[in-house]
Amino acid sequence: MSENTQTKKVYITDTILRDAHQSLAATRMKWEEMEPVLSQLDDIGYYSLEAWGGATFDTCLRYLNEDPWDRLRNLKKYLKKTPIQMLLRGQNLLGYRHYADDVVEKFVDKAIENGVGVIRVFDALNDPRNLETSMKAIKKYGQGKCVCEAAISYTTSPVHTTEYFVKLAKTFEDMGADNICIKDMANLLLPFTAYDVVSQIKAELRPETKVHIHTHNTTGTGDMINLMAVNAGADIIDCALSPLGNGTSNPATEPMVATLKGTKYDTGIDINKLLPIIQHFNGVAARLEKDGFLNARVRKIDINTLLYQVPGGMLSNLISQLKSAGKEDKLMECLAEVPVVRKDCGYPPLVTPTSQIVGTQAVWNVLMGRYKTITAQYKDLILGKYGAVAGEINPEIREMCTKNGEQVITCRPADLLSDEMEKLTNEVKEAGFYTKEEDVLSYALFPEVSTNYFKWRAARDNGVDKDMAANPDKVYPV
Ligand code: CO
Repeated sequence: MSENTQTKKVYITDTILRDAHQSLAATRMKWEEMEPVLSQLDDIGYYSLEAWGGATFDTCLRYLNEDPWDRLRNLKKYLKKTPIQMLLRGQNLLGYRHYADDVVEKFVDKAIENGVGVIRVFDALNDPRNLETSMKAIKKYGQGKCVCEAAISYTTSPVHTTEYFVKLAKTFEDMGADNICIKDMANLLLPFTAYDVVSQIKAELRPETKVHIHTHNTTGTGDMINLMAVNAGADIIDCALSPLGNGTSNPATEPMVATLKGTKYDTGIDINKLLPIIQHFNGVAARLEKDGFLNARVRKIDINTLLYQVPGGMLSNLISQLKSAGKEDKLMECLAEVPVVRKDCGYPPLVTPTSQIVGTQAVWNVLMGRYKTITAQYKDLILGKYGAVAGEINPEIREMCTKNGEQVITCRPADLLSDEMEKLTNEVKEAGFYTKEEDVLSYALFPEVSTNYFKWRAARDNGVDKDMAANPDKVYPV
């Protein structure tokens, strides 16, 4: 059989339960809105369903009065055939700082134990040292149960060449990755570049290592990226069912299934089986719109991303930061300031948390004057506390950040952290909130938000506060 007629089934990961509503609707999809169609989703034949991690964990605790660990266990009850996929920010886990290795290891252990079957791990700076502990833990606890997928945060800059990405993919494979993901969170990866990057990575990797593409449709190129990547040999692509697909979300699932149908890349998915699920999520999308979480603006093609390299989530953050300062008219100035701030700190990819760090510094620069105020996080980034960047740090800015004797860090940032689990466990126990080890992990990631949730949970379970117990949907401010 010649190369051309050989079939090569392409797999789809559906992100409807995580990235889709995180990108379009502030991650506000509720458990009750997932549960009715989970068994049907399980029957579709997806590679995986991305359903946990990212912002879902924080949102469950902060806004939905839901224990994210319960959500995971409940998902697993329905998703018997399809692996649950999660997104993990390496040494940051799902929080905004580096955690000690013992917390990272315990988190991965518990995520797998509670049902995660694919962990996509990435680092905002693409510093492999920040993926080391989590990848080792995935290999240790996930044997036969969990795929270790290392993701490259895709970005463009003078230092982010195809050679850079190929080298990074090889490094991740050598570290034990089963899959390599090209994570194009900002939809910057143009279709022909996708073809080049994927074919060169595929040529260098072992044949059994799968390449997984993750892009968005912010700039309108998402479907073309997926198609070119498939042509270049990508094995898995991320899509979101159309009710919450496209725009700043991932490209819609149905057009891709239809496009590949009958070709050698046929996904094997029956589009008719998707119809009742689509109908269900149309209702969910309508609810999210009614409650003000889904804004039509984020579903329009927006080429600002191609001009300023601003991911969807970052754009909405910038808008809301400016709105609260009453300076919405400064949006274009902020968008123009982002590349300057980014170049000065060595071209980090703009993904959580660097997108927030660079975005906030850009806002400060525009509102207060350039570097008149340097945020603590931006300073930490300059000082190497988040890890190594691919480019050069502007020496003038480094000078500003070290003028009070602050030290620049060159080691793996987590090497400076001592074990934390015991201390955190004691804190949760002393507060009287300990019910399981997972509580300690929730508390480690979001101490205030978790404490508030634990109080609510205790009230519900003990009926101490009748108002809280009687109003399970009421959100209590932190
Ligand atoms: Co994404």
